[in-house]
Amino acid sequence: MDSNLIIQGGRKLSGTVEVRGSKNAATKLMIASLLSDEPSVIENVPFISDLDVTKELCEKIGSTVDISPDRICHITTREVKTPLVPELSRKNRIPILALGPLLHRKGIAEVPVLGGCPIGHRPVNLHIEALQKMGARIERRENSYYAEAKELHGEHVIFPFPSVGATENVLLAATLAHGTTIIENAAIEPEITNLVDMLVGMGADIAFNQVTRTVEIHGVSKLHGTTIRVMPDRNEIMSFAVAALATEGSIFIPRIEASYLGSCINALQRVGGKIDEEEQGIRFSGRRPYKAIDIETGPHPGFMTDWQQPMCVLLTQAEGKSSIHETVYDDRFGYTKDLVRMGARIEVDKTCPAKPCRFHGEYFHTAHIVGPASLHAAELVVTDLRAGMAHIIAALIASGESRITGIDHIDRGYEEIDMRLRGLGADIIRA
Ligand code: EPZ
Repeated sequence: MDSNLIIQGGRKLSGTVEVRGSKNAATKLMIASLLSDEPSVIENVPFISDLDVTKELCEKIGSTVDISPDRICHITTREVKTPLVPELSRKNRIPILALGPLLHRKGIAEVPVLGGCPIGHRPVNLHIEALQKMGARIERRENSYYAEAKELHGEHVIFPFPSVGATENVLLAATLAHGTTIIENAAIEPEITNLVDMLVGMGADIAFNQVTRTVEIHGVSKLHGTTIRVMPDRNEIMSFAVAALATEGSIFIPRIEASYLGSCINALQRVGGKIDEEEQGIRFSGRRPYKAIDIETGPHPGFMTDWQQPMCVLLTQAEGKSSIHETVYDDRFGYTKDLVRMGARIEVDKTCPAKPCRFHGEYFHTAHIVGPASLHAAELVVTDLRAGMAHIIAALIASGESRITGIDHIDRGYEEIDMRLRGLGADIIRA
């Protein structure tokens, strides 16, 4: 259904909000379960549309997937009914991760080409090259990737960039491969640790060295089922935290830990936010004036690229000149045009504020923000997930009533965002 969010700005957010399980972990854990014919149990799954797309993929492959109202996903793939799933009702970036598991179980595999947010070039060359090195023959078809492999073998894979998806793809493929795989310059996002924990629980032999960004995987002959809990969604945490600071409110998020939020907490504190670690969770609060800061996005443990959009809204409220240097995606500032229409002073250019990155001079990847600015309401169209959260937070602090369309993008990754913000005192309805 094509609905809108209608937001009357100006309310402070306060209260307690539970964050859901991570979208970018839960979906991968479902794919990991395909490596075994035994049942796995994945606790704390979020009710979001990206999970539904992964469920559809698994069911087409032959999995029985039962997700209970208390967020427990029972998933079993006794038999792979078909390893050929060239199409799904929607596109995201998960299906390519099923290549390894399907090749192990059937020797052939086909998955749809990738979708996901329009935030720049998002090639999958690192996934494909690594799987080819491990023995897969991969063919790009019109709308799919088709792969064959009699057997996958261990390899030494060195990534030029610590890609999250490519690291996950090699991990999944290497667990049952013949011999040892070493990944150098691996991504070390906490969601990957969640995946490694599941694979180890299934019987995989993995040594994950986060200091050297090296993963060593000794292939085993069989994996079994396991039980795993999805970690909290770090993007939800940042989104709610920024919404609290931007509205000069105070919110408490139970059952989260600072251990996986280092650069988020650091940035919020530098702006002048108050972050209190309590026994049961973390409280985020803040009051103007906020301080201007410079931020650079990067792979973990750096400041996540998925956090820059809410942060940009907060920086429109800070005193002075801030900057955000986006070094992960080459085109992730499209949403700033909307913030400018709402009264923000933001310019995006091709320069790098400090050390030149791989986008230097070629892509509009640095935002310069001058604050504080009074934002006013607007009609907004969401074109990608995290930009959608920037729109929502901007509308929460703007004067007047904003209407946001395209919220199916937001529903991909945030469960019932309107209801949960309303629970914190926001004037927001879905109509
Ligand atoms: C994951 O995307 C997340 N998606 C993204 O979250 C997140 O922004 C990103 O990791 C970085 O943290 C999921 O987990 C489903 P990458 P992924 O491979 O795996 C280049 C959100 O809003 N690259 O680390 O696709 C690529 O072009 C989303 O929830 C290659 O060049 O990210 C990009 O510049 C958006 N070749 C960079 O690496 C490749 O083969 C990072 O991509 C693969 C990647």
